[in-house]
Amino acid sequence: MLLQRPRRNRKSAAVRALVQETFLSPADFIAPFFLIAGTKLRQEIAALPGVYRLSIDLILKEVESLHKKGISSIMLFPSLSSDEKDERASAALREDSPLCQAITTIKRELPALCVITDIALDPYTTHGHDGVIDARGEVANDETVAILCQMALLHAACGVDIVAPSDMMDGRIRAMRESLERAHFPHVNILSYAIKYASHLYLPFRNAVGSHLKFGDKKGYQLNPANKREALLEAKLDEEEGADILMVKPALFYLDVIAEIRKQSTLPICAYHVSGEYAMVMAAEEKGYLKAQDIFYESLMSIKRAGADCMITYALPKILSLL
Ligand code: PBG
Repeated sequence: MLLQRPRRNRKSAAVRALVQETFLSPADFIAPFFLIAGTKLRQEIAALPGVYRLSIDLILKEVESLHKKGISSIMLFPSLSSDEKDERASAALREDSPLCQAITTIKRELPALCVITDIALDPYTTHGHDGVIDARGEVANDETVAILCQMALLHAACGVDIVAPSDMMDGRIRAMRESLERAHFPHVNILSYAIKYASHLYLPFRNAVGSHLKFGDKKGYQLNPANKREALLEAKLDEEEGADILMVKPALFYLDVIAEIRKQSTLPICAYHVSGEYAMVMAAEEKGYLKAQDIFYESLMSIKRAGADCMITYALPKILSLL
């Protein structure tokens, strides 16, 4: 006689709903946007079908429509033309930049919306690295951190809700937290890209913001995909240094890391379902191998089940109707 029949709990949609453990809701998501200067501009991104570079006015329209559907957080990534970039990322500190205008405009029009900015220098440097380069040809840690802190203060002055340092320099969370405190922005959260692997999955993103590397790679600052203990160390340090939310990036190849961090830390975890994760599925759908919407829904559910509290994904418009 079979006493245990787990299939009983799967016998109907109603019973399955009663025992479902994980749910996706609009509140779980951060919508990413690629921003370009100008008005009424919408550019396709070759490696990210269905995702566009948009001018502020069009981003505002999209955000308003998302907001009505329950999405209350967005992340902004500027894409600059190459003549605006230099070795020192000077454009990152321009007060009249399209990014600063976008933060101000969105916060004015939709004050309840949570606006998040990525803090790193790669969209602004000619070489595409996340910081300034020293005499040894390496990204200079402390000098870069000083610029990142200024960048965070600039965004805070524009009204940003959360700054998200994505550079992987040492000590940047403490420095940023202290800068924000001193400048009277204690309410600005730091969403730290604490665990950012040196992944090959960022290529479509670099195509989107035009930040392809002119030399070297990012292995001197981003984590080795082979390492998990090192991820725990990064999470611990960023927590001690004053991070409010920890990010794990990419997401699907690193579900074990998300699960470990969930055990170690009491902080919320955000997972970044990155550009390559999106592009692979879109390419497979184009070939007729898979249905993108189904794969995205299952992927995001898995990321949440692994322990993420919130997620950034380019797939949001594709799964919104299922939430
Ligand atoms: C910049 C940054 C990157 C991504 C987010 N912020 C690229 C990189 O580090 O090269 C990648 C996101 C994605 O692939 O979707 N530091």
